[in-house]
Amino acid sequence: MQPSHFTPVPLEKAYRLLNHGPTVLVSASHGGVDNVMSAAWACTLDFTPPKVTVVLDKATRTRELVEASGLFALQLPTVPMAALTVAVGTDSAKTLPDKLAQHGVELFRAPQHSVPLVRGCAAWLVCRLIPEPHNQQAYDLFIGEVVAAWADERVFKDGHWHFDEAPEALRTLHYVAGGQFYATGASVKV
Ligand SMILES: Cc1cc2nc3c(=O)[nH]c(=O)nc-3n(C[C@H](O)[C@H](O)[C@H](O)COP(=O)(O)O)c2cc1C
Repeated sequence: MQPSHFTPVPLEKAYRLLNHGPTVLVSASHGGVDNVMSAAWACTLDFTPPKVTVVLDKATRTRELVEASGLFALQLPTVPMAALTVAVGTDSAKTLPDKLAQHGVELFRAPQHSVPLVRGCAAWLVCRLIPEPHNQQAYDLFIGEVVAAWADERVFKDGHWHFDEAPEALRTLHYVAGGQFYATGASVKV
């Protein structure tokens, strides 16, 4: 079942979900295997069609699933998910196959999309891999076209983030190192 407040985001506004530079969870699925890892190195790349980049190390199981399925999702974990984000970014499904269950990761799927999504996030972007074998091999750099996006309407609506008015628990995370994050702060409007 989809979470409450799971609202479609028009594709021309999807880049804004990543514009403030949050740490993401990367999910993918292939052959009946779902997985999720953390990634701080995710970025917007283009407006139309919206494209994103993410660095997926060769050692990760998630990368194998992305390469095999040609699909992945980026989603923005919230402050209460900080420990989960460190956990799925520390353990690999290669050595801990049930890491999602162990770390309390709850998955759901959006209608007509096979990529698993993580419950509790503030926004979700489903991406089709644009294969660039050289970039993938040389730089671990994966490019995706965003084909669908949703956000929690309590914190992102009318094409804009509303962190100031939303519950604190819906703030997104920005990774520093050593298990330390900053939560998205107050807005500064010019
Ligand atoms: C906060 C955080 C950010 C991370 N960022 C990245 C990243 O940008 N790219 C990457 O390849 N690994 C990153 N990692 C490491 C992967 O998430 C980690 O290798 C994970 O265990 C891979 O899981 P898997 O093998 O089950 O796919 C990060 C880890 C943490 C905790």
